[in-house]
Amino acid sequence: MHKPVRKAVFPVAGLGTRFLPATKAIPKEMLAVVDRPLIQYAVDEAREAGIEQMIFVTGRGKTAIVEHFDMAYELETTMAARGKGMEVLEATRAVPGDIITVRQQVPMGLGHAIWCARAIVGDEPFAIFLPDELMIAHKGGTGCMKQMVEAYGEVGGNLISVLEVPEEEVSSYGVIAPGRQVSDSLTEVTGLVEKPPRAEAPSNKIISGRYILQPEVMRVLEGQEKGAGGEIQLTDAMARMIGTQPFHAVTFAGRRYDCGSKLGFVEATLALALAREDMGDEVRVMAERLLSGER
Ligand code: G1P
Repeated sequence: MHKPVRKAVFPVAGLGTRFLPATKAIPKEMLAVVDRPLIQYAVDEAREAGIEQMIFVTGRGKTAIVEHFDMAYELETTMAARGKGMEVLEATRAVPGDIITVRQQVPMGLGHAIWCARAIVGDEPFAIFLPDELMIAHKGGTGCMKQMVEAYGEVGGNLISVLEVPEEEVSSYGVIAPGRQVSDSLTEVTGLVEKPPRAEAPSNKIISGRYILQPEVMRVLEGQEKGAGGEIQLTDAMARMIGTQPFHAVTFAGRRYDCGSKLGFVEATLALALAREDMGDEVRVMAERLLSGER
């Protein structure tokens, strides 16, 4: 039996400079795709996978994220009096103690952000969610982390979610060297490299922002040197775990939107709005009208 994955780390200390001025006074993780902030998509995905404790690695100006999962007394009283809309608020509120924050203080990279959560992660396997990567299940299907937790039940060890990108994009990501194919969606990982030049990339399969890692990675991160971009890289620490513990990649059966870029964000907004039962038809008509050149 593999120890269950009960905790998840969400690195949310980034400044969100790509979305300025929208992110001047609000965290980028609070930008909404249709009507849910990005961070809530990630937390909902974690809850669906059976994860109970959410650890946010935050920084200055990020309190709105924590408030989002708190009880909003004035709102709840008002909505209760009106007799509607309570479910939306209740779906966000966390059980006391299930949201924990630690501060990163200095932006030294993803590996450093994860290391900041070491005392709370303790001696357990844990998940990581990069909320910029919006992972949407197929209709009737399960979310990315739930699929990973299921794979973890079979192979244990460490898992990352991967997807294929065009070759010219590999240098923006962590890239895997794939080994033996275990099943349609599961592959062994024999190597990992962060943001390689295109010619040196071992494949076009990139790490897409979801991880299940064993706590030993924290000890590797402890003495970690700076890597790509002068930052302490999680990918480098994971690379050093290969060979000491099982390491697999899961290809998510679902859709991924890169909400760290404006284009990806617009694509996600459109796709999710079109898929919504309460507005999809109207959005389609609206989109067709706009594409036809009408205003
Ligand atoms: C991070 C990781 C990278 C991963 C990417 C996914 O990079 O370091 O391995 O592929 O997220 O979004 P970042 O986007 O923070 O530069």
